Amino acid sequence: MDKLKIVGGHQLDGKLTVSGAKNAALPILAGSLLSSESVNLQNIPQLNDVATMLTLLQSMGVKVLFDEKMNLQLDSSDIDSYCAPYDLVKTMRASILVLGPLLTRFGQAKVSLPGGCAIGARPVNFHVQGLEAMGAKISVENGYINARADKLCGANIDFSRVSVTGTQNIMMAAVLARGKTVIKNAAREPEVIDLANFLNSMGAKITDAGSDQIIIKGVDKLNHSKYKILPDRIEAGTYLVATAITGGKIRLKEVVPEHLTAVILKLEEAGAIVDVGDDWINLDMKAKRPVSVNIETFPYPGFPTDMQAQFCALNTVASGFSSVKETIFENRFQHVNELQRMGADIEIQGNNAMIKGVETITAAPVMATDLRASAGLIIAALVAQGETVIDRIYHIDRGYERIEEKLHQLGAHISRESG
Ligand code: UD1
Repeated sequence: MDKLKIVGGHQLDGKLTVSGAKNAALPILAGSLLSSESVNLQNIPQLNDVATMLTLLQSMGVKVLFDEKMNLQLDSSDIDSYCAPYDLVKTMRASILVLGPLLTRFGQAKVSLPGGCAIGARPVNFHVQGLEAMGAKISVENGYINARADKLCGANIDFSRVSVTGTQNIMMAAVLARGKTVIKNAAREPEVIDLANFLNSMGAKITDAGSDQIIIKGVDKLNHSKYKILPDRIEAGTYLVATAITGGKIRLKEVVPEHLTAVILKLEEAGAIVDVGDDWINLDMKAKRPVSVNIETFPYPGFPTDMQAQFCALNTVASGFSSVKETIFENRFQHVNELQRMGADIEIQGNNAMIKGVETITAAPVMATDLRASAGLIIAALVAQGETVIDRIYHIDRGYERIEEKLHQLGAHISRESG
């Protein structure tokens, strides 16, 4: 298993181009199943989760081609399987995103239940109930969701809490359904808007994506599309925090600053000087120690749960006390145990991490447990005294493109040990 080795204490300084967003790329790849015509996608990040989604699509008969610029062409004209098997779904929960597209285009789908995962229960009941409201007959047998429908019908779907992939799955099912679907309490994340823009580029009729009520008028078929994936706001935020913790300076390019408003406000509160333009962000920490900031996670436009671990790491060495409250997932503090092993002073009280900033933390062998927890550990290692070895970094390869190369480019002392 690969490991990352990081020698802490080196200020980050430099420029970085942000990659395409994982959480937009995955639903858009699943959404390509909706059309029998070819789909061209640009700015697809090279990540293990993307590779898993492509393997899943290929197992159904989708033809996948890359051109010399790594643009992707997908052809779903000849699908011969409607199944997402356990072996793939267990490695990537986002596989559930093929359920809506398969069911609405082919009238059938069989998708393994994702089951538990490292950050909590993460059920898929909203996806199932939403499709049932549209007329699908769904049974769960032997760990699989079996769904059938002659033709889905538009419906009013009111989520009891905001769900990103739930909104995306129902939106994709609704584009080929008969009549109008209204999704209430819809997720407003930029990745939901990106999926809606992609589907509209193929001829779907979706309005108000980005608000909490999305309206979809069903159409008979979707056509060819060429689409560019939006930049990854979580990758961008991760590098901003990584730079801030080292007291360094960074310019991020090809980013949408407005998607990071909640994150930037917290970085400014922590003492960073941040400037933004149309598609760039400059952050300068002027070699200062960060000031502790309180965090509470919320659905977008609130503070993202996917940035919580990174801010825990920042608060670990900041001056003062902070509380980091997780309201989206019940078990998303595994990074805390590992940070404690590096000398952090953190106490968990329910869904709250109470952090007393310490002047220095020290290197230790640590274990990555999920994608964003791993990012938090890397950030801590950048300032820890000595060499931190992070094990099980396949988690990080799921969601960060060439992370050691990008951090190295900024001046971090980081290397990968293959094993
Ligand atoms: C997506 C993101 C993930 C991010 C999360 C933030 C992708 C691939 N993943 O995950 O990176 O951390 O949004 O919200 O885009 N819930 C239910 N029943 C359901 C679905 C969700 O109870 O059927 C609950 C979940 O347990 C959780 C909350 O709703 O407490 C939000 O989950 P959801 O937004 O669905 O997360 P994901 O879409 O899985």
